[in-house]
Amino acid sequence: MKRIAVYTSGGDAPGMNAALRAVVRSGIYYGMEVTGILNGLEGMIDGEFINLDAAYVSNIIQRGGTILKTSRSPRFLTKSGMEAAATHLQNHLIDGIIALGGDGTFRAATAFKEYCSLPVIGIPCTIDNDLAGTDFTIGYDTAINTVVEAVDKIRDTADAHNRLFFVEVMGRDSGKIALISSIASGAEAVLIPESITDTEHLYHILEKGWNRKKSSYIIIVAEGDEAGGAVAIANKVKEKFSQYDTRVTILGHIQRGGNPSCMDRVIATRLGVVAVESLIGNRSHEMVGIINNKVVYTPFNNAVKTGQEIDESLLKLTTILSS
Ligand code: F6P
Repeated sequence: MKRIAVYTSGGDAPGMNAALRAVVRSGIYYGMEVTGILNGLEGMIDGEFINLDAAYVSNIIQRGGTILKTSRSPRFLTKSGMEAAATHLQNHLIDGIIALGGDGTFRAATAFKEYCSLPVIGIPCTIDNDLAGTDFTIGYDTAINTVVEAVDKIRDTADAHNRLFFVEVMGRDSGKIALISSIASGAEAVLIPESITDTEHLYHILEKGWNRKKSSYIIIVAEGDEAGGAVAIANKVKEKFSQYDTRVTILGHIQRGGNPSCMDRVIATRLGVVAVESLIGNRSHEMVGIINNKVVYTPFNNAVKTGQEIDESLLKLTTILSS
């Protein structure tokens, strides 16, 4: 293992830079050269390869986004895209690859096996925390803290005006951000894609609150909730409860930005070093993760297939506390 390549792919996550720094510095520590691929898989197809030295990753551990840039690349899933990428890797004498991203990144790495025999190790970077094989993905802790900070602010104005707020958070297929931030912000209800939205129960909570003159409400809605997101559910509720002054806030991409939390920096640093050591140890097509504070390795197929189950007891907390 003389030269390794590293890239960031899919949606960015706070802590990607910290993981990149750890990959580059530990690669150098173990006597290897490290090549960075710009713009994710798009850059791999187009041959955007650069040398990374220790100085290149100075002063980035605290920065959100990714200095390598990232992309979502439908082109990579074509035969010609993968062939072009494989040729560039060969021309640059790459011996192993480290991919930073989420489920789409690991699915692409698995499909690429047919065109490229190089070993690949994945580092879980996504705010969604929707991969099996790690307790926490890099970026999740920062994102939930961003959400809680925002909802605290919304609560102030909701309370001042006696309003009902629907706050939409990210998570196309995963309700983890919604669930945890609803507990931490004391939301009255949470709607997530993993469980069927019980509109009647929501109406019941609102009715009960109205009768006891409850002044403000926060309902957290994951963007992928099958009821159709915050706007759709707010419209339904408005029809039934015209007495409520209802507002919708969509937090959007602020959840992906910002300086990574201490927790995300530490996980990123640990996993960056473990990823390099995994390549040296001849591992391949596995995601590195941390479960119960121990490093674990999960084949890409399992990491993306199973996802993490929603803990029903956490879901029940909001119901109990808002009754
Ligand atoms: O996968 C991370 C994520 O932030 C999802 O929660 C969200 O649905 C999606 O990315 C948004 O992606 P994009 O920035 O491409 O719109």
